[in-house]
Amino acid sequence: MKKRTPLLWLLWFCLTLTGGGALAATMYYGGDYRSIFLIGKTTDGHHQIEMACDACHTDMFGGIEGLQKGCMNCHGDELKAANDSHPRSKFVDPRNADRVEKLDARFCVTCHREHQPGITNAMAVTMPTDYCALCHEDIAKNRPSHEGLAFETCASAGCHNFHDNRALYEDFLEKRHAEPDFKDVLLVNLVTWTPSEENAKKKPTVLTAADADAPAAHLGAPEHIADWALSGHATGGVNCSGCHQPRKRTRPDEWVAAPGADVCATCHAPEVKTFTEGKHGMRQRDGLWVSRDDAFGPFKSANLTPMTPALARLPMKSDAHDTALTCNTCHGAHKYDVVFAQVEACESCHADDHTQAFRMSPHNSARDREMAGELPKGSGVTCATCHMPRHLLRDDYGGEQVIVTHNQNANLRPNEKMIRSVCADCHGLKFTIDALADPALIARNFKGKPAHHIESIDWVENRMRERARQKQQ
Ligand code: HEC
Ligand code: HEC
Ligand code: HEC
Ligand code: HEC
Ligand code: HEC
Ligand code: HEC
Ligand code: HEC
Ligand code: HEC
Ligand code: HEC
Ligand code: HEC
Repeated sequence: MKKRTPLLWLLWFCLTLTGGGALAATMYYGGDYRSIFLIGKTTDGHHQIEMACDACHTDMFGGIEGLQKGCMNCHGDELKAANDSHPRSKFVDPRNADRVEKLDARFCVTCHREHQPGITNAMAVTMPTDYCALCHEDIAKNRPSHEGLAFETCASAGCHNFHDNRALYEDFLEKRHAEPDFKDVLLVNLVTWTPSEENAKKKPTVLTAADADAPAAHLGAPEHIADWALSGHATGGVNCSGCHQPRKRTRPDEWVAAPGADVCATCHAPEVKTFTEGKHGMRQRDGLWVSRDDAFGPFKSANLTPMTPALARLPMKSDAHDTALTCNTCHGAHKYDVVFAQVEACESCHADDHTQAFRMSPHNSARDREMAGELPKGSGVTCATCHMPRHLLRDDYGGEQVIVTHNQNANLRPNEKMIRSVCADCHGLKFTIDALADPALIARNFKGKPAHHIESIDWVENRMRERARQKQQ
């Protein structure tokens, strides 16, 4: 018996090695065979790219560091922008070594494992909800207000998040605690800016139908030209060739029949980039935005097609099942009508309760009144106001541009992200925090008052009163 053990070991070892090698090779070169090795249902955030194994498994034998690199490639900038409360730097600091021993928060996969549907909660968190206790067990001692609170409630009751606390910091609550539910002027900040003197001089030439520069063979139906002549492109000086002949100087006889996102990106790079960061465009990230030197870019090797409702996990309209998500899905050529894109386009695919309730909401009434000219510009709320807000983008060269965020996940979860980017324009902080903590109200698309109240803002008020009293004494 004893003698045979090493042989069995050797056999086991060889089998594992071949198996492991086959697995690793499949992850990199496997094409259609990849699904065989997919060991469990992928999280909702990543199901669309699950066949791009090497997007996460960046290094064939890289283990946890290889995974970390994958996570940071796609989420690094976003966590930095969110002023992450628990960045890796906090945990490589030797002063926190005792805490890391309890929970290795240096690595994303400690809390966000993949292929583990049985233990996966909202936002792909694979930890039991009371884990904050591991590092903050003393909180009740330092903060009398926290006495008796259960650790499950730290991050589930609208008080804290692990990463993004920009709208929940105490000084933010203090500054805004007294705001009324409805502000004086209910207007969304449409972001206005004054162009530099130099830019102000560069007025585009407004084009008309007679200016259309397409070769006669490609002029097409007169409606195209009429639609184009009324669009922002004609008034912005963009002729037919701007889209259909993007390389006119080097290839004068080229005609691109259906210009795609790569062409739009020549003028609208920030829209295309953000599009590839959310669930509408994430499958097109590689190639469109990330240019790679290596031949085995993860998405190219997985041959991912654009997203369609048929591939979705969320409820979708059945007649839209095969509609591909590209730039021209919400912006039909050649109208490029942004009003259609704000609500009607979304409704043509999404079929969840929240979407279907929108038309009955007070926000939609305000939009109707804005369109009828009864309320000033910016009074209405559309799907895009909340999910694709406008903001000012400063580039590295000192330029400024107003862009529409095309990553509709950027402020979606945890939903407190929406406070600063959207609701705060029109509503008070207390009202907003309560509204966003009420799932039934979200399902009704904000028709009615919040049914819950989050107490953290009361505690802040108590502390302010206490401080004022002490000052008086
Ligand atoms: C979105 C990122 C992501 C994608 C895409 C992904 N994985 Fe994973 N995978 C992970 C993470 C994270 C773990 C570690 C899970 C854990 O520790 O429980 C893992 C673990 C595994 C494991 C267990 C062995 C190990 O290395 O820990 C296998 C096998 C595996 N993945 C196969 C695949 C295959 C095959 C594909 C493509 C069809 C794929 N994965 C796509 C993130 C991903
Ligand atoms: C190729 C890019 C890419 C890689 C690699 C990647 N992610 Fe993601 N991840 C996304 C996108 C896109 C989404 C969906 C949009 C969103 O929720 O922000 C997402 C969603 C998530 C979510 C869920 C957010 C939610 O609201 O449900 C978590 C958590 C997450 N990723 C963590 C990770 C971790 C941890 C890794 C490394 C193992 C990783 N991601 C690797 C692109 C990526
Ligand atoms: C100690 C546990 C823990 C670690 C480590 C961790 N996360 Fe998270 N993550 C969470 C929790 C909890 C949430 C749920 C929302 C919240 O509380 O912030 C979350 C949410 C997210 C989200 C979606 C919401 C958002 O704020 O964007 C992303 C994306 C994400 N994590 C990515 C990462 C990445 C990438 C890493 C590694 C750099 C990482 N996480 C490390 C616990 C963790
Ligand atoms: C692995 C250890 C660890 C875990 C788990 C952890 N934290 Fe922390 N947390 C820290 C460290 C380290 C700091 C830095 C300040 C300090 O030393 O207390 C911190 C700081 C904070 C702060 C201070 C505010 C800030 O942004 O600087 C808050 C609030 C907080 N954590 C909440 C939470 C919540 C809520 C959870 C659970 C969702 C959690 N933490 C889980 C280690 C941890
Ligand atoms: C902003 C970019 C853009 C501009 C400017 C533009 N087009 Fe197009 N055009 C497109 C896109 C995108 C398609 C593909 C539409 C589709 O697939 O639904 C298209 C399709 C077409 C087609 C083929 C459609 C069909 O039904 O056969 C013709 C013809 C055409 N354009 C002519 C023109 C002419 C003429 C002009 C100038 C007056 C023009 N285009 C300006 C983007 C543009
Ligand atoms: C040659 C540069 C160029 C190309 C290529 C281009 N655009 Fe534009 N686009 C513009 C300019 C300039 C404007 C007007 C900007 C403004 O009004 O601020 C504009 C405006 C728009 C608008 C807003 C229209 C409005 O009425 O407010 C949308 C939507 C749009 N473009 C989408 C696209 C899409 C989708 C593509 C690819 C099929 C594309 N663009 C290709 C330059 C371009
Ligand atoms: C899911 C629908 C949807 C898709 C897909 C989409 N857009 Fe948009 N886009 C919108 C909405 C909605 C607005 C207007 C938001 C508003 O007015 O509040 C907009 C606005 C724009 C604008 C700015 C218009 C202005 O007035 O400043 C540009 C440029 C643009 N989109 C380009 C693109 C490009 C390029 C793509 C492809 C990467 C794309 N869009 C894909 C929905 C979409
Ligand atoms: C062509 C169909 C289509 C159109 C048009 C469309 N969507 Fe989507 N949307 C999808 C699909 C498919 C997903 C991904 C669902 C999944 O991965 O399960 C998605 C995802 C989303 C998500 C993320 C949901 C989540 O839980 O992470 C939001 C928010 C969203 N869409 C809002 C909008 C808005 C706002 C508009 C209009 C400006 C719009 N969509 C237009 C098909 C569409
Ligand atoms: C006043 C802001 C607001 C408006 C208007 C709005 N939404 Fe939402 N939407 C939210 C919030 C908040 C959530 C919930 C995020 C969370 O907590 O998961 C959400 C969630 C979603 C989701 C994800 C649902 C899921 O189950 O994961 C989709 C898809 C979506 N919205 C699409 C739309 C569409 C389409 C419209 C327009 C018909 C619209 N929303 C209008 C704020 C808004
Ligand atoms: C452009 C301004 C604007 C923005 C941005 C906005 N709202 Fe509103 N909201 C309104 C208006 C206007 C009403 C209707 C007031 C009325 O009926 O008198 C309203 C009504 C509501 C109501 C119903 C209140 C009631 O008494 O029936 C809720 C809840 C609500 N908003 C929540 C939100 C949340 C949460 C956000 C952010 C995700 C948000 N709103 C963003 C303007 C806005």
